[in-house]
Amino acid sequence: MDTKIFRETLAQFATGITVVISRTARTTHGMTVNSFTSVSLTPPLVLFCADNRSDTFQTVQESHRFTVSILADRQEALSQRFALTGPQEELFQSLNCREGIDGIPYLADGLAFLDCSVENIIPAGDHHIVIGHVDNLGLLNPSDPLLYYQSNYYRPAATS
Ligand SMILES: Cc1cc2nc3c(=O)[nH]c(=O)nc-3n(C[C@H](O)[C@H](O)[C@H](O)COP(=O)(O)O)c2cc1C
Repeated sequence: MDTKIFRETLAQFATGITVVISRTARTTHGMTVNSFTSVSLTPPLVLFCADNRSDTFQTVQESHRFTVSILADRQEALSQRFALTGPQEELFQSLNCREGIDGIPYLADGLAFLDCSVENIIPAGDHHIVIGHVDNLGLLNPSDPLLYYQSNYYRPAATS
């Protein structure tokens, strides 16, 4: 299959954007994720797909816990920052975070958060599917969502 056409086709599917964060005794690490989706209501399950090379994925594998912060439209810069690899100590010091279960941070200025324990991790090609059991969640700041469409951040045209 032509990779370019595969990417282009999937880019027609609009999504929201989240930041998945995990923490061990050694490190706190997060990354921008748009593969997040709900899976089951009873029990409450969600999933995201993690690149096998991702540092955040390594942290999730160690800690078996992660938070998901759903981003608001004004958080595009944060989405871009969490899409970079490398150390994040200074980043976390500068962010407005709250601590979830086991002290894993979530972004206090997002739309909502979910606090998850790992239910299952399934290898899938160059990614792993991480299924999380939602142990806690909450609405934070009502606002428009940050959207991603055709490989770009997307703002719907204002109506009348
Ligand atoms: C809009 C957007 C969505 C992304 N979604 C995912 C995703 O679902 N899964 C993933 O593994 N990487 C995704 N990425 C890429 C990661 O954010 C990026 O590779 C990041 O550097 C990984 O960081 P880490 O290695 O520090 O964990 C996305 C990037 C952007 C900009």
